[in-house]
Amino acid sequence: MQVITDICSLRQAINGLKKNGQVISLVPTMGCFHEGHLALMRYARGISDVLVISIFVNPTQFGPNEDFKAYPRNLKRDIELASEVGVDLIFAPEPEEMYPIDFLTFVSVEKLTKYLCGKSRPTHFRGVCTVVLKLFNICQPDIAVFGEKDWQQLVIIKQMVRDLNVPVQIKSYPIVRESDGLAMSSRNVYLTPEERKQASGIYQGLCLAQKLVARGVREGLALKNRLIDFYARNIPLGKIDYLELVHPYRLEPVTEVKDKTLLAVAMYVGQARLIDNILLEP
Ligand code: PAF
Repeated sequence: MQVITDICSLRQAINGLKKNGQVISLVPTMGCFHEGHLALMRYARGISDVLVISIFVNPTQFGPNEDFKAYPRNLKRDIELASEVGVDLIFAPEPEEMYPIDFLTFVSVEKLTKYLCGKSRPTHFRGVCTVVLKLFNICQPDIAVFGEKDWQQLVIIKQMVRDLNVPVQIKSYPIVRESDGLAMSSRNVYLTPEERKQASGIYQGLCLAQKLVARGVREGLALKNRLIDFYARNIPLGKIDYLELVHPYRLEPVTEVKDKTLLAVAMYVGQARLIDNILLEP
């Protein structure tokens, strides 16, 4: 397994692999691996000849008062874990390599970036799209794999790839959860033991909504109110950022669960902003 930190060497390595006709997959990450990351890598490993991952805490996707500095980093451990799951090549650039001092170009996807996380993180997806497109241009993968926990990110990246004719196939992988249901996230390390206990209620609330839909509750407001009440009782340390029912691909709010509907939640629990989602099927 090679660890490469500069774009020029990475391109050379990729060009060599491409000449041999190998199918390259890319798993972009911000490091500090948990089982969720490793599951994406194992999946990508199984559908390609060469597995490239990137480890880069991307400054442009953090807002001015967000946790860029505090975001957990552990490159040494990440390298060991990546090697265990059979990664071939790690791209781990420094911020200056990706964003030289004279950097001026950003990628903005319209509309889809205004919903859900886009409301409280207005520049987040511009940063995500910019870095992801750069990673695609640098690594030239045939396949790229993203987790469904960041559902909105996935939908936006698919849109960007379609709109800009990027020759990459986007694949997704289901949310990986802790045994009590909490979606795995690098930000879970911010939680105190009590916050961690309560945070498992986020997924329990989503499952409650699923049960209510199965019992015939379809009205968006009724579902949301039941959930707000559930969260207030079970996660007193939490503060809901948003709790929304949206079309799974257009991300527009829906008022009634008629077809497949995404229920998405973002909640502050202590220092952590946690997101989760479930696809409701009436
Ligand atoms: O989902 C993430 O970890 C990040 O947003 C990504 C896709 C690696 C871009 O920095």
